[in-house]
Amino acid sequence: MGTKISTDKLILKPVELSDLQNMYYLRTNPQVAKYIERDVNKNLEEIKQFIELVRKNNFYFTINTIAPSEFIGTITLWNIDRSTNYAEIGYELLPQFQGKGLMSEAVKAILDYAFNEAGFEYIEAYTHRENITSKKLLERVGFKLVVGKIDEDNSDIIIYGINKIEKEGSIDHE
Ligand SMILES: CC(C)(COP(=O)(O)OP(=O)(O)OC[C@H]1O[C@@H](n2cnc3c(N)ncnc32)[C@H](O)[C@@H]1OP(=O)(O)O)[C@@H](O)C(=O)NCCC(=O)NCCS
Repeated sequence: MGTKISTDKLILKPVELSDLQNMYYLRTNPQVAKYIERDVNKNLEEIKQFIELVRKNNFYFTINTIAPSEFIGTITLWNIDRSTNYAEIGYELLPQFQGKGLMSEAVKAILDYAFNEAGFEYIEAYTHRENITSKKLLERVGFKLVVGKIDEDNSDIIIYGINKIEKEGSIDHE
């Protein structure tokens, strides 16, 4: 059993093999993958292997509504460097749950957990420059554009960052 993170409307739970069908549904959805470099042509066995892989990193959560209890998406801290307490954040929501502020709630909760319980100091987000909803979300929760840093593999990616101090500052001003 790993950490569960609760918010007003959501519970974030470590992904399990019992999430297979929901993960398949999410990760083969072309609309969700529009700005993510991902082959959506996956079968259940490949998604199962993916779950087994990401379960090893301890920070891959499913996002679930509370009442009724429904799987709505995922959020993760990955590409972790413990020498600097760095992680990247990744998140995706099923289309029918977008536009309701739910991912903002999930990102705020995972940042709080990352900085105040899991020992991270700095979190980055790599997002496609045309992914307007993702950019708005990052700015809403306090990420700042990292000027001068590029993704050498993809020039359409822009990078946002937030550190522990900034996050604490943004809470103080809410
Ligand atoms: C990126 C993504 C998670 C953003 O989802 P989202 O639902 O727009 O994000 P939020 O939870 O911040 O919701 C914000 C929207 O809900 C609205 N909203 C409604 N009630 C709200 C509330 N109580 N609080 C905040 N926002 C609320 C906001 O006005 C905003 O709508 P707008 O964009 O029309 O202004 C979603 O588009 C997604 O899953 N995309 C596919 C995967 C992806 O690209 N991931 C990013 C990879 S880097």
